[in-house]
Amino acid sequence: MPQLLMIPGSLREASSSRATVRAMEARIGDRASCVTADVGRLPHYNADTTDDPAVAAFIAQVEAADGVVFVTPEYNYSIPGVLKNAIDWASRPAYASVFKGKPCFVVTTSGGVMGGVRAQAHLKYVLNGMLARVHIGKEIIVGQANAKVKDGRLADEAVLDFIEEEMTGFLAGL
Ligand SMILES: Cc1cc2nc3c(=O)[nH]c(=O)nc-3n(C[C@H](O)[C@H](O)[C@H](O)COP(=O)(O)O)c2cc1C
Repeated sequence: MPQLLMIPGSLREASSSRATVRAMEARIGDRASCVTADVGRLPHYNADTTDDPAVAAFIAQVEAADGVVFVTPEYNYSIPGVLKNAIDWASRPAYASVFKGKPCFVVTTSGGVMGGVRAQAHLKYVLNGMLARVHIGKEIIVGQANAKVKDGRLADEAVLDFIEEEMTGFLAGL
């Protein structure tokens, strides 16, 4: 069974991105085993820090995963700093990090109607820079995501159908 590392880009408890991760896991079911990373545990990136256990654990999670699934909001037209920080930690050595060749799947969320589409473009650009294998498919954005959360899960079945279709293709390529 493939292992997926889910990386939400929001730390808050009631996050619509985290709610989307939960709903996606329910849809994935027994087709993959999912682990969720906690990027809020990571210190700020500092190249002088070489022995931080949270950093080592995160890098090991990325390395062990057959695929990495990002579900992130857009902050100020880009990806949240906490997500960029996590990516930076796992991005070394340049062009030879655990992200090199790693299959990656991107979903963006937003409280507004844009669904984080600008953050999506930025994230894919960053992943390309690390030579990750970004899933080629229909762009998945979840607009007005906060209004679609019920009992801690994204409850928009049409959006989840759309995500599932792309996810099925992603899983088939792992
Ligand atoms: C610091 C900050 C910046 C934001 N910038 C944007 C933005 O550029 N575009 C957007 O659509 N929403 C923006 N939002 C609103 C978020 O889409 C909304 O808060 C969303 O619910 C955050 O994701 P979460 O529910 O996973 O925490 C911003 C929110 C915060 C806190």
